[in-house]
Amino acid sequence: MHKPLLAVLKGGHAASPPIWMMRQAGRYLPEYRAVREQAGSFLDLCFNPELAAEVTLQPLRRFGFDGAILFSDILVVPHALGQTVAFEAGEGPRLDPLGDAGGLSRLSGALDEAIVGKVYEAVARIKEQLPETTTLIGFCGAPWTVATYMVAGRGGDDQVAARLFAYRDPEGFSRLIDLIVEASIAYLLGQIRAGVEAVQIFDTWAGVLPDAQFRAWSVEPIGRIVAGVKAVAPDIPVIVFPKGAGTRLAATVAGTGADAVGLDWTADAAFVTREIQPQVAVQGNVDPIALLAGGKALDAAVDATLEAYGRGRLVFNLGHGILPPTPIAHVEQMVARVRAWRAAR
Ligand code: CP3
Repeated sequence: MHKPLLAVLKGGHAASPPIWMMRQAGRYLPEYRAVREQAGSFLDLCFNPELAAEVTLQPLRRFGFDGAILFSDILVVPHALGQTVAFEAGEGPRLDPLGDAGGLSRLSGALDEAIVGKVYEAVARIKEQLPETTTLIGFCGAPWTVATYMVAGRGGDDQVAARLFAYRDPEGFSRLIDLIVEASIAYLLGQIRAGVEAVQIFDTWAGVLPDAQFRAWSVEPIGRIVAGVKAVAPDIPVIVFPKGAGTRLAATVAGTGADAVGLDWTADAAFVTREIQPQVAVQGNVDPIALLAGGKALDAAVDATLEAYGRGRLVFNLGHGILPPTPIAHVEQMVARVRAWRAAR
């Protein structure tokens, strides 16, 4: 059966680009909020295979997306390495912060299989119910982004803590990155064995790094994950999303072996079509705020992405995750416009 998203990731072209949305399973959907309430905590939902499968499939029923992304979180990896992780309502994640290299001794060297096994079980359940033309995407966080949460214990502006650790003790910070690289390879291979057909590596905080550190902490460790995955599963496409990378997307393409890169909404279309899209598929990049705004602003943002990238290999998506207050009608408007568009060749 033909899967348009998988085909584009593997080198094919589509007249009308395949579409999915980052954070497509989430709080903007009333049916998600209902299941979330039933599950208890956010992590209880992540580790309940039946409910995690259900929320993964919800957005497909409404919007008929070409991709389904496994419902889980990038912070499952630190949790399965023994770090305490909690999600406080309305406050985002809270971890027991590592602080510096001394904190590494509190972590185990390998993922707790009893924990990640629940995620793999969710993958298998999703796969059983997945529409034939939909591609199932697994994911993990990039080592740099995961490390920022592990070191500071939270998100927000606290990439400062990880940057400080890395400047003061690059050798100790490397050991943390190496641990996350190995755990991420094992985690993605577990998802692949359970049935995911493509994987995405989220480097949400890549953009804050100076150039040398971008190469050392974003590009190089992601490259090792891609190599580790491809050594065992060479046919599984890898999407790398280094948010805020700008022209350093070229370093990501050259240094990671990614099959596709994610673009945020600040991407320079002339640069991307000249330097990036001839080499890999691109994914993105509508501003989530334009989706929230709706109306003509949304139409213009959708058209801008289609016109800039739709003649090459494009996976239509947002430039970051959908925001919880986004009206469902705006998502329907976007999907209809993308489905109606055809590349004039
Ligand atoms: O639909 C999907 O995209 C699949 C599931 C998914 C979630 N998180 C579910 C989630 C994915 C792919 C992620 C990735 C993730 N998680 C990233 C990278 C991408 C990005 O958005 O930058 C990061 C940095 C995290 C860490 C994380 N998880 C934060 C900072 C937060 C709090 C912010 C928020 O939106 O509340 C979470 C919680 C989270 N992860 C929610 C969901 C649906 C909301 C929690 C809830 O329902 O209460």
